[in-house]
Amino acid sequence: NDVQDLAGRTVVVSAGGTREPLDPVRFLGNRSSGRQGIALAVAAARRGATVTLAAANVDESLLPDHPAIAVERVETTAELRSAVRAAGAGADVIVMAAAVADFRPVASTAHKIKKSDAGPEPIELAQNPDILAELAADRLRPGQVVVGFAAETGDETGDVLAHGRAKARRKGADLLAVNEVGTDRGFGDVPNEVTVLDADGAVVGQGSGSKADVADALLDAVAERLRATTT
Ligand code: C5P
Repeated sequence: NDVQDLAGRTVVVSAGGTREPLDPVRFLGNRSSGRQGIALAVAAARRGATVTLAAANVDESLLPDHPAIAVERVETTAELRSAVRAAGAGADVIVMAAAVADFRPVASTAHKIKKSDAGPEPIELAQNPDILAELAADRLRPGQVVVGFAAETGDETGDVLAHGRAKARRKGADLLAVNEVGTDRGFGDVPNEVTVLDADGAVVGQGSGSKADVADALLDAVAERLRATTT
């Protein structure tokens, strides 16, 4: 896709997974590699956008080297929130593709937690802010397109989209990319499948294939949104 439909636009993408420290050497985290967010940043740059990639714990070797992409490396949810909000203040589009830790340990000790005969101490957790929901509720800029991701597993009824619809309404983002995960329904060699919903849960786009294909399908919906809101 070489359409320059994001020329002159500024896009912020978050990628990877946040980590919350327990002590100087341990953290609570997740397995997100950051590949989908990186594919989005690269696709947006190809389509003409100026991109900030807020990369949470993404392996150095995966980070893109592109003149239109500024990479900001972060670790915790608090750092990701600051980076996204700082870059997002002037952005036309914010895509939250990062897996954000929902909880963080209340206290991170300055010294490594030691084993003791009394057994382990419980870890007290605090709730992290929902960065996406905040961005959707209090817009940093009027007309900004706010996009979220939802990884949903099907239940007995198999209704992944029903979960996605509920999440779209709850989060209030303009667009929500819903991925079905953990399926054994054998879409085997199709690595990714995404359905794009609007804030009401209506289907406004669909994509499948590589993470780059999924990125372009989502950016099609974003570009259409931008055209609709700025004309
Ligand atoms: O509610 P859930 O975690 O499934 O929502 C996923 C979406 O919300 C993703 O776009 C993710 O980046 C965003 N999110 C966030 N802040 C959180 C949790 C999730 O921005 N604390």
